[in-house]
Amino acid sequence: MDKNKKDIKQITTPIYYPNGDPHIGHAHTTVMGDVLKRCLQMAGSTVLYSTGLDEHGQKIQETIAQSGKTTEKFLDEKSDVFKNLFNRLNIDYDVFIRTTEDKHKKFVQQCLQKVYDKGLIEKQEYSGLYCVGCEQFKTLADLDEQGNCRDHAKPPVQTSEVNYAFKMEPFRQFLLDHIEANQDFVKPEQYCRDLVNMLKEPLVDLCISRPKSRVTLGIELPFDKDFVTYVWFDALLNYATVNNGELTSDCTHLMAKDILKTHGVIWPIMLRALDMNLPKHLFVHGYWTARDGTKMSKSLGNVVDPIEMLDKFGTDAIRYFLARGSSKDDSPIGEDMILGVFNAELANIIGNGFYRVLKMLDKKTNGEFPKVNSFRDCDTQFISSIATQVQNFFGSNFDLQTIARQAELVASIGRDINLYLDKTAPWKLDGEEFYSCALSCLEAARLMFELAYPIMPQTARIVFTALNTEFDPQNYKTQIRKIKSGKIGTYQPLFQRMEVQK
Ligand code: MSP
Repeated sequence: MDKNKKDIKQITTPIYYPNGDPHIGHAHTTVMGDVLKRCLQMAGSTVLYSTGLDEHGQKIQETIAQSGKTTEKFLDEKSDVFKNLFNRLNIDYDVFIRTTEDKHKKFVQQCLQKVYDKGLIEKQEYSGLYCVGCEQFKTLADLDEQGNCRDHAKPPVQTSEVNYAFKMEPFRQFLLDHIEANQDFVKPEQYCRDLVNMLKEPLVDLCISRPKSRVTLGIELPFDKDFVTYVWFDALLNYATVNNGELTSDCTHLMAKDILKTHGVIWPIMLRALDMNLPKHLFVHGYWTARDGTKMSKSLGNVVDPIEMLDKFGTDAIRYFLARGSSKDDSPIGEDMILGVFNAELANIIGNGFYRVLKMLDKKTNGEFPKVNSFRDCDTQFISSIATQVQNFFGSNFDLQTIARQAELVASIGRDINLYLDKTAPWKLDGEEFYSCALSCLEAARLMFELAYPIMPQTARIVFTALNTEFDPQNYKTQIRKIKSGKIGTYQPLFQRMEVQK
């Protein structure tokens, strides 16, 4: 089918700061984007999925200075570290954008010039409390009782300088009207309410420049070479850079709650000032926290390293754990919790039925799927009910909440298969009856792994290979009885129970 540009659904992750190594939170949002992309493809859409790095600003400039490396070397190395993680996580992104790319720089400068020419940018004396961690001026309301930035637990620095300010207040009512008219602009609803609250008071001008005397790692303002662009004004535009300067008409930004304000207030106003499309949705999730609910931080030594978890549990187990725990609220994560889910759900439930039946059949038939002339009604009813659940899922709308439900549905179908096996006891059956039951349980597992494919693509492929069935996610249709007579493909246990370490 010839898809024109308008049909493309765009999905984005935030572009991450490469100050440190990626952690489980970066892995989370990027896996969720990948799951969403694969779900949308199976439902018939064409998707443009982008992720990448936010490489400008004072914070990263200071980190690079301390590293003793050149800027280029530091950023190239970090970019490889992030790309390596995303490869290990089996992320099928279409674009990995870095804000130091020329294409992006030129685009940001064009946008700045356009807003400047419209008279929406003014030079003014700027004085306030600046948090380098946030790369933002803070108001007293943004600080805790000790006067520290709530996100960085550090006091902001009193800073006074001449800067360029972008007028946001003229757009506030427009944005409120937009949210009112598009109730699903921000999901889940709780974050939509948070956004409306942020828009209750008049908006202060946004400081969109940083003097080069303080920050050099940034994009020069096209109308004043003594300044670079404020890192957020630059970074948000990446979403348009990846699609030749505009968002597609159906664009979803994924993020955690920390950056709702920049995406929900600043970004739509920038787009409106630039006469560009607004994103269709912002999907927001909570944080993964340390085991005891505290924020993960390097200084506390409680950071969950995604590479270490991948080494221990494998790609699909980590993807499954992240998907099933995707939530609007904060959730703790720890190695013991991943191990618990690995054994209880992946090994005992999801992988178990498939392997048990296939081995049983293999032994009886010497490696062949037999030809069955007529299936028992109860078997056909069983797989039809599963097919309906899978079909309904792919026929519905997807968001971050549906991903957790999808993982739950996979486990619930897995449970049903195990129960059906226990109830019908195929090992006690013979001939056609045995074949009908065994092949139907394998059909049920095949359908379950079609549903699971967006979350666990590699494991699903192992199943389809073993069953010798075709699967093309971009031409997907839920069908029953796809397993044909013939040789059984190669297979292995999908998830083998792991020992609990003392
Ligand atoms: N560079 C900005 C984003 C610019 S987008 C135009 C930034 N970078 S970041 O490296 O701090 O990444 C923040 C994002 O990483 C969060 O919004 C979320 O997607 C992900 N996460 C980082 N820590 C997280 C958790 N502890 N839990 C879940 N996701 C988290 O902000």
